Amino acid sequence: MRTIAIVNQKGGCGKTTTTVNLGGALAADGFRVLIVDLDPQAHASLALGIDPDELDENLYEVLAEPGGANHLEEVIVNAGDNLDLAPSSIVLSALEQKLASERQDSRTERLAAALAKLPPRYDYVLVDCPPNVGLLTFNALRAVREVIIPLETSYFAIDGVQKLLETIGLLADRIGIDLSVRILPTLYDGRTRFARQTLAEMRELFKDLCFDAVIRQNVKLRECAKRGVPINLYAPSANGALDYAAVAIEVEASPPDQTIALEDRQAEVDTAREVVVRFRDARAGDVRIAGDFNGWVPDKGVRSRVDREGETRVWTKILHLPPGTYQYRYIVDGEWREDPDNAQSLPVSGGGRNSILVVR
Ligand SMILES: Nc1ncnc2c1ncn2[C@@H]1O[C@H](COP(=O)(O)OP(=O)(O)OP(=O)(O)O)[C@@H](O)[C@H]1O
Ligand SMILES: [Mg+2]
Repeated sequence: MRTIAIVNQKGGCGKTTTTVNLGGALAADGFRVLIVDLDPQAHASLALGIDPDELDENLYEVLAEPGGANHLEEVIVNAGDNLDLAPSSIVLSALEQKLASERQDSRTERLAAALAKLPPRYDYVLVDCPPNVGLLTFNALRAVREVIIPLETSYFAIDGVQKLLETIGLLADRIGIDLSVRILPTLYDGRTRFARQTLAEMRELFKDLCFDAVIRQNVKLRECAKRGVPINLYAPSANGALDYAAVAIEVEASPPDQTIALEDRQAEVDTAREVVVRFRDARAGDVRIAGDFNGWVPDKGVRSRVDREGETRVWTKILHLPPGTYQYRYIVDGEWREDPDNAQSLPVSGGGRNSILVVR
């Protein structure tokens, strides 16, 4: 079960929109998704068509009451195919006060304890956080392994993000967990120079931490929230749907780095499969392969062979990969290209597309 919190203390940067629509895209890809609405504003619940006022129970019971962690299952409601919701309510805003007298540790571990008790029913848990770094956000950060920080490309103040990264880093140190953090550029309007510059700046700054996907401004994202469905069900061909589908592919392709114990590493070597890919071309002189499996270093750890089929030369690349999803490109005489024989690919912000390789 992958656990991802969507966090930023800045209001209106697209946290809820990201939670709901990434959730929708993952569910559409066949993964079982639970959305945890940890914001007393309950925007994620509403955007999934669920009015907290009409429910008897919500996350407050789970987080505030002694033994509440056992009751998460009872609070969860269905919000679509493969998509469940743990609904919020305005009463969550009273949690801080309610738990004021409790020990810091016990206060911030409530959501983690509740998730730990869930049966293994979900592939992804996405937690929508309120626009502040208070008790609720701390509960989210203690309960997850991964964090997505949406950043507006129309308004970008680096200090705020640095503060947030610092907080996350400190928390991760304290609890001895390695939180994997990624940045998602949102509300992008490519017609303005400011947005283009801001996006370039974010990429420069956060490098690999930045998603390749960018969420463009798209009025359909506002509309679908009002209708109470994720955009992939409301307007599947709208930019907003395409952008969140691209985020989902990136998320699916890159589980957080695991600290692998020695015996696990051996197991990884044991489960590695021999994967063979071929590139055919009549004119190319030098063909290498690079991907996330070799740190994007051309031909690193790869066995190569070149044969002839008439006029055509065939480069055979032999990789040893444990099961997983990988991205790669060929480097043909110095030019980085997607695999022409592989229909599965995803766009990359720097231009072009990466090919996708799934090892089962
Ligand atoms: N890419 C987008 N294009 C157009 N509108 C968007 C986009 N992303 C978000 N919005 C709209 O902007 C507003 C703020 O977005 P959202 O609610 O997702 O932000 P948030 O970070 O969750 O806010 P808060 O901090 O209040 O929880 C909403 O009305 C939403 O519909
Ligand atoms: Mg929100």
